[in-house]
Amino acid sequence: MNPKIKALADEVNAAVATTQEELEAYRMRFISRKNVIADLFAEMKNVPNEEKKAFGQEVNELKQLAQDKFKALIEGLKSNDGENTAPVDLTLPPALSVFGSLHPLTATRQRFIQIFERIGFNVSSGPEIEDDWHNFTALNFPENHPAREMQDTFFIEKNPDIALRTHTSSVQIRVMETEEPPIRTLSPGRVFRNEAISARAHCIFHQMEGLYVDENVSFADLKQTLYHFVKEMFEKETKIRFRPSYFPFTEPSAEIDISCQICHGDGCNICKHTGWVEIGGSGMVDPNVLENCGIDSKKYTGFAFGMGIERIAMLRYGIKDLRLFTENDLRFLSQFKTI
Ligand code: PHE
Repeated sequence: MNPKIKALADEVNAAVATTQEELEAYRMRFISRKNVIADLFAEMKNVPNEEKKAFGQEVNELKQLAQDKFKALIEGLKSNDGENTAPVDLTLPPALSVFGSLHPLTATRQRFIQIFERIGFNVSSGPEIEDDWHNFTALNFPENHPAREMQDTFFIEKNPDIALRTHTSSVQIRVMETEEPPIRTLSPGRVFRNEAISARAHCIFHQMEGLYVDENVSFADLKQTLYHFVKEMFEKETKIRFRPSYFPFTEPSAEIDISCQICHGDGCNICKHTGWVEIGGSGMVDPNVLENCGIDSKKYTGFAFGMGIERIAMLRYGIKDLRLFTENDLRFLSQFKTI
C-alpha cells in the first residue's frame, strides 16, 4: 500500500469527534470539496502508468473509508448529545440583564450632586407645599410682587398662606433658619408655576438650588464655582457669562448663561439664535434674607443660585422638547443608561 494512503487511512480510523467543532474539522480534512483525498486524485498523473490502477483503487477505498467514518462520527455525536458537552459552571457570574435606565432628569440631578459634593456641598430638601414666609416673605419679596398673584402661583383657596412652592429658594430659608454658617448646600426639587405647557415651559419642573454662606464669600467665589460646575457637567469647553438681573433675595443678581451646547454659537431655536442659553439665576444673598434667618449679615456673606434641571438635561443630551420628560415614552427613556 502507498505509504501516504496508509497514513491517511490510519488517521481516519483513529478519528474521534466529541463536539461539533471536532466533527467539522474532520469534515474539512476528509470530506469537503478540497480535502486531502481529492489531492491524492490530483497526484494520479505523476504516478507511473503500471502503478496507476493499484493507486486509484487504494485512493477509492480510502475515500469510502473516510465517508463511512464520517457517518459513524455523526451518529456517535448524536447519541452522545448532552453527555460529552462541557458541564455547566454554576460558579460563573450570570450574564447581566438590564431592566431599565435612569430618567434623564435623575441622571442629571445625580451628576449635579456628584460635582458639588466634591467641593464640600451637602444635600438638603424642603416641602413642595410651602408657606408664604419660606417661599416669599423671608426671601424679601415685596407685597405686590407678581409671583404672589393667583394667576402665577398655585395657592390653596382655603388658606392663602399656603402655595405650591414656585422655586427651591424656599429651602435656602429652611437651611439658614436651622443651621449655622459655614453652610454649603444643594437643594434639588420639584417646583410649580401656573404656566401653559409647551416645548419650553411646564407647570411642574425641577430646580437645583445652591447656597454658600460663610465669612468672606464673594462674587468671585460664585463665578468660579459656577464655572467649575459648567466645565464638569458638560465635559467640554463651555463659555459662561453673567448678565445683571434682579431677584428680591440677592444683591447683586445675575442670570447665568452658557454657550449653546446644541449649535455651538451657530444659532438655533434653543438659543433663539443668540448662541447663549440661560440656565438659571444667581447672586449674593441679600443681607435682609440673612437677617430674616437669624444670621449676622455683618459677619457673613453668601452666594446662591437656582438652575433648571430640565434645561441642563436638554443641553446635556440635545433634547429639544421639554414635554418628552413627562410623556413616559420608552423609546425616549431607554436611551439614557448612565449618569
Ligand atoms: N429662585 C430663582 C428662580 O426661580 C433663581 C435664583 C435662585 C436666583 C437663587 C438667585 C439665587 O428664578
